[in-house]
Amino acid sequence: MRVNGMPMRTIWPVAGRFAVEVIDQTVLPHRYEVLRLASVEDVARAICGMQVRGAPLIGVAAAYGVALAMTRRADDAALLAAVERLAATRPTAVNLRWALARVQHFLLPLSPDLRAEAAWREAARIADEDVEQCRRIGQHGLRLLRSRIGASGRLEVMTHCNAGWLATVDCGTALAPVYAAFDAGLEVHVWVSETRPRNQGLLTAWELAQHGVPHTLIVDNAAGLLLARGGIDAVIVGADRIAANGDVANKIGSYLKALAASAAGVPFLVAAPRSTIDFACPNGAAIPIEERSADELRLVHGCDAAGVAARLRQLPLGEAVVNPAFDVTPARLIEALISERGCCPASREGLLTLYPEERHD
Ligand code: MRU
Repeated sequence: MRVNGMPMRTIWPVAGRFAVEVIDQTVLPHRYEVLRLASVEDVARAICGMQVRGAPLIGVAAAYGVALAMTRRADDAALLAAVERLAATRPTAVNLRWALARVQHFLLPLSPDLRAEAAWREAARIADEDVEQCRRIGQHGLRLLRSRIGASGRLEVMTHCNAGWLATVDCGTALAPVYAAFDAGLEVHVWVSETRPRNQGLLTAWELAQHGVPHTLIVDNAAGLLLARGGIDAVIVGADRIAANGDVANKIGSYLKALAASAAGVPFLVAAPRSTIDFACPNGAAIPIEERSADELRLVHGCDAAGVAARLRQLPLGEAVVNPAFDVTPARLIEALISERGCCPASREGLLTLYPEERHD
């Protein structure tokens, strides 16, 4: 995608392979800043602090984190310690564990002197595969969305959180079909929900604006009214983990949107690559839900009137707060899953149609 007209990815290795650089997602949309991560600890902190965020992107960042660790020390103990540190950063998005398992499996049989070079190559491969898979999700999703365009002739889509290119290496998951529709010349408009408390909707609005896609921001609680009024062709979100039965964990608030969409007869679609599907997880109840700091509710981040970054306390100190970062949408509320292999019903059978190699019964 483009930032100020320049083609960009969200993560890239620095020449000489002593660091990777990422777009700092905690200062967008107010400032565009590049952050340099030079150690496995830097990567782990950036994932925990959500400077790097979005299920596919944290998987790729973790793979580069292992490469950084291997550049310093590449014995078995260093490899396993890097994997363990990175795996402990965020529990819900399975892409993180998927990428770490893949890198560990690839590196362990190699002799330590070969590991650094191999780790950088494998991380780059995972990044390139993510781009290609998201591109394919865009094409499959576009076919589905085309068939949903209503009487207005314009595609009206609602999304939640940020499942755009900022959450991946490029293209995005939920937004990939939107970009594909826009690039194919369809008239498309996106309703973007703010996504309290971290406001990832502002990231979505920023990246849609960079690409020129018309969009409108809404508060999370406006979604029910807008869906009930009619005129929205589909709700499309990404996923942090898809269980084997088609239940989907995604950003907190996704479930409410699915309920409202179901009540209004609007299709609720979920777009995600293979690395988000956890065939070992039987259903949504088995997905670990991340609890984040209460300060994410207590403090509002933004800019003051002079444009200087500021934090405002909105809750009295000591107010009880709980802050689950994800919820689970049951498969029955999901009209279709969209992956790099195509579209399928949100069910075990549906997933196995796309991934027959996962059928072991
Ligand atoms: O907590 P975040 O911002 O990392 O959560 C991101 C989401 O929930 C996205 O919707 C999901 O990762 C899909 S990303 C393509």
